Amino acid sequence: MELQQTVTAAFSEKFNTHPPLIVQAPGRVNLIGEHTDYNDGFVLPMAIDRGIWLALRPREDDQVVVHSLDFEETAVFPLTALQNSKSGWSEYLKGVAWALQEAGYPLRGWEGVMAGNVPKGAGLSSSAALELATARAFQQVSGFAWDAAQMAKLSQRAENKWVGVNCGIMDQMISAAGEAGHALLIDCRSLDTQLVPLPPALDGSGTAVVILDTTTRRGLVDSAYNERRQQCEEAAAYFGVPALRDVSISTFLAEADGLAELPRRRAQHIITENLRTLNAAKAMQNADAALLGQLMNESHASLRDDFEVTNDALNVIVDIAQGQDGCFGARMTGAGFGGCAVALVHEAKVDGFVTAVTHQYHQQTSLTPNVYVCQPSAGASVIPQN
Ligand code: GLA
Repeated sequence: MELQQTVTAAFSEKFNTHPPLIVQAPGRVNLIGEHTDYNDGFVLPMAIDRGIWLALRPREDDQVVVHSLDFEETAVFPLTALQNSKSGWSEYLKGVAWALQEAGYPLRGWEGVMAGNVPKGAGLSSSAALELATARAFQQVSGFAWDAAQMAKLSQRAENKWVGVNCGIMDQMISAAGEAGHALLIDCRSLDTQLVPLPPALDGSGTAVVILDTTTRRGLVDSAYNERRQQCEEAAAYFGVPALRDVSISTFLAEADGLAELPRRRAQHIITENLRTLNAAKAMQNADAALLGQLMNESHASLRDDFEVTNDALNVIVDIAQGQDGCFGARMTGAGFGGCAVALVHEAKVDGFVTAVTHQYHQQTSLTPNVYVCQPSAGASVIPQN
């Protein structure tokens, strides 16, 4: 609500009229299924109650004019002559315009004001939120139908080809297709989705999803990420399949011996993580918070030991979280190498959990974590205006 009011007020001041259109798209946290998306596997993220908001109106020409309240900057670009200046927030908007037009969508220009509250660089997908908010804006002013999977694919293409970041489909897909009150099991090959509710605690109270930002960031994340992708491709080639999604655990156990150690351990993570993710979705449907938590803990160990994408800060904060009363499970979330962990916590124990983790993490690392208790939220949407 807050950001909706912020962009409405800024739009009204700038254009002397109420905005006819407001759209939003959320960031995300992944509950389980890490580094599986680019292996055609399964992921289980949820959209969070933090996102990008855009108040806008159509223009008669082919210009897009957007003022960012966060960057205190206005970007102007013509849809017919898009130029890649290779840096800055407006490249995400241009990239989406480029990808939509390449896919044959005729676009109209628009002007507006945007603001966001997804922390940048923390691994909570502020860029996917920006891409999907942009796609929603174009969809509204240009009048084509909203197809969440198609918009996610084109936003991913914008990020891969225009911005130059080699991400998978998870972040864009959940920002496009998330639903309030649910996480989403996504099959990253077919893009089929299934809504799954957060499980209650045994006593019937709710559970809360708590994001713990270690505040550590590592440079060269892109090259480490691309290296993992290559190792997974190498392992898939060894098994003679298009992607590690196609290797069963029994095939892996029977045949992995001939594979070099590094791609073997990477493959072991992916193959077991896909199973954990499917089991986690079932646990959620069965209202089994304890099993979901246990799978999250196992996921972290696998990401730490086999996939090797955690850092000390993530291991420390996850250890502390797992040791707290009321915590069902915790793991690193997102690409890793720094950034955030996610924990599933008994709703009534959240305050004590946050205080204890913050205190112990500070004691052990001298760092103060940023903590976000999150609600599962809607994907890219249009806010009705009256
Ligand atoms: C980043 C990428 C996603 C996914 C995760 C790891 O967030 O953008 O596509 O690969 O890392 O699960």
